[in-house]
Amino acid sequence: MPYVTEQNLTNVVLERWKDIPDPRLREVMQAAIKHLHAFVREVEPNGAEWFAAIDFLTRTGQMCNEKRQEFILSSDVLGVSMLVDAINHRRDSGATPSTVEGPFHVPNAPEIADGGDMAKGAPGIPCYVVGKVRGLGGEGIGGAELDLWQTDGEGLYEDQRNTTGPWMRGLYRTRPDGSYLIRTVAPISYTIPMDGTIGELMNRTNISHMRPAHIHFAITAPGYHGLVTHLFQAGDEFIETDVVYGVKESLIVDFKKMPAGAKAPHGEVVNEPFYVVNYDFVLERAAAAAVAAE
Ligand code: BEZ
Ligand code: FE
Repeated sequence: MPYVTEQNLTNVVLERWKDIPDPRLREVMQAAIKHLHAFVREVEPNGAEWFAAIDFLTRTGQMCNEKRQEFILSSDVLGVSMLVDAINHRRDSGATPSTVEGPFHVPNAPEIADGGDMAKGAPGIPCYVVGKVRGLGGEGIGGAELDLWQTDGEGLYEDQRNTTGPWMRGLYRTRPDGSYLIRTVAPISYTIPMDGTIGELMNRTNISHMRPAHIHFAITAPGYHGLVTHLFQAGDEFIETDVVYGVKESLIVDFKKMPAGAKAPHGEVVNEPFYVVNYDFVLERAAAAAVAAE
């Protein structure tokens, strides 16, 4: 083995780490070493900076628990989560695009009947979301499941409220023709958690830490690729600067403002102003093996 110099060190380490039986782990470790060494060669950290980086990562790990994932948040604000999402969801251009899931999804959402209210008294402007879940060929997909979660009208998710039951989330099913009707309240834009190491970092930049108002959807239907996405409110001031890079053009929708006394999509008169959002989700058919692997 050659003794190391600044010049040969990267190659010496790569050589040592090439004897890994698992080919995928070998590929990942070879790339990690190459890119880490290139980063250090470019930045040339001094000892204090290297220690500050270790301290930052240590404190980031210490922030993590079953409710809080500061490492995923770092991946989100650096665009890595969206890149992983894009690589893993290369769909037909006619299909509704995916976007990042984020940390606020809670499994086992309460089932809500077609047209039922998932806000259940939460603060906010009433909002009806209507449309169809369909395939690329236009066929309505009956029995598709729409798992929704969002902030209330004060910008807070269930995790951020001290509620005993579910808050601002629900599971709907499409009718046989693929149509759905959801009653909720309009979400508002909100900040990502800023009380941890990522907040500390963001506060040393001029980058916005806001997400534009959106509703999260996880949609599944037998025989189709699942879809995790959001609908964003057109005109939101943070649409262009979403801190997690989640906005895609076809996910920006008009929240049509209706006056008090107008008829809602379920046919009843609503005695206060409300929004109506129309959106068709388009799923791509999948081979059974591909769906099982998702
Ligand atoms: C969210 O949309 O819920 C979210 C996504 C990434 C980071 C923080 C929040
Ligand atoms: Fe969100």
